[in-house]
Amino acid sequence: MSKRTILVTGGAGYIGSHTIIKLYEAGYDVVVVDNLCNSSEESLQRVAQITGRQVPFRRVDIRDRAGLDKVLEEFAVDACIHFAGLKAVGESVAKPYEYYENNIGGTLVLIDALRSHGCKNIIFSSSATVYGNPAVIPITEECPKGHCTNPYGQTKSMLEEIFIDIQKADPEWNIVLLRYFNPIGAHKSGLIGEDPNGIPNNLMPYITQVAVGKRAELGVFGNDYDTPDGTGVRDYIHVVDLAAGHVKALDAIGRKCGLAIYNLGTGHGYSVLDVVKAFEQANGVKVPYSIKPRRPGDIATCYSDPAKAARELGWKAEYGIEEMCRDSWNWQKNNPDGYKG
Ligand code: NAD
Ligand code: WQD
Repeated sequence: MSKRTILVTGGAGYIGSHTIIKLYEAGYDVVVVDNLCNSSEESLQRVAQITGRQVPFRRVDIRDRAGLDKVLEEFAVDACIHFAGLKAVGESVAKPYEYYENNIGGTLVLIDALRSHGCKNIIFSSSATVYGNPAVIPITEECPKGHCTNPYGQTKSMLEEIFIDIQKADPEWNIVLLRYFNPIGAHKSGLIGEDPNGIPNNLMPYITQVAVGKRAELGVFGNDYDTPDGTGVRDYIHVVDLAAGHVKALDAIGRKCGLAIYNLGTGHGYSVLDVVKAFEQANGVKVPYSIKPRRPGDIATCYSDPAKAARELGWKAEYGIEEMCRDSWNWQKNNPDGYKG
């Protein structure tokens, strides 16, 4: 779309902060709303350091309609990139109400606020989790959605359906559902990156915390899967590539795409032990690990066929596993306590 103002919900978070940089590089203006429930404003200060631009930020919860209205009155927003949401799979099993209320409730408030201010362009952070245990590998967008084993995944799957129905009823909407695979890595400056609270749920932050000495060893969740080395295989994607995918999705919105769904992945699958080895090699550090039981809800293999995004968006991941490991480590070693340091 022509270079205009983008509302970035959840922009202080991991993927949002990296995307803001790409948006500025592409000539967009940005306004961020975030309630900081899983992030800190420091990430936006770091973005300012990297880009030389002070990021307009309003501390607003997307469930707060009056708060959103105020932002949308202050800024003429042309499109929204909607990252805001809770994302911890295990926590969602323990707190389903909170996940449905925040992710689905919040998104409904956001959609209504946007349309009442004449903005019907949105990009939504969906997830490969909507495929459940995928029927086909590599996974294309045509692969039927599967059963999500947790409320977090359900919120993504249900929100996709809600967006599809809304666009069907009102074709003025342009909606891009981006199904992310496994984002890791960090901006090459080492100034921004993933900053989980407490014990990391995801593989790469756990590895970097072991490498930096905050945790004794990595637990590898199962080595008896039907994969080459028995450990789970995933499609890890550099967060900077993922961020670039959002700028390409805005171009699609500018072409009045209606409803479009894209996988954002590399198309390559790496096992847990592949990642450990790649991390050790890229960074010259040891990552002690031991094999633990399988984690409930995990699947053996999940990687994308990213051809549709290449064909229709002209987007392709550029970075490989080595750069992902290097940049994750560069962030962690420079910021052992994340943004709290
Ligand atoms: P993150 O937690 O770092 O960022 C999400 C941001 O949303 C946080 O800054 C949080 O404070 C904010 N937020 C949450 N609820 C809010 C609310 N009600 N109002 C305002 N702000 C709120 O997570 P991330 O990794 O950057 O993920 C961004 C999006 O991408 C999320 O929707 C997530 O579900 C989705 N996603 C992430 C991954 C992943 O592995 N990181 C994979 C697939 C999809
Ligand atoms: C990757 C692999 C684990 C941690 C999750 C969400 C998904 C999306 C991305 C959302 C698996 C193994 C992990 C550890 C391990 N999220 N592992 N030891 O499960 O593919 O996807 O994050 O926003 O919806 O489900 O990612 O990084 O947790 O796990 O052995 O300490 O690493 O079993 O094989 P996952 P992950």
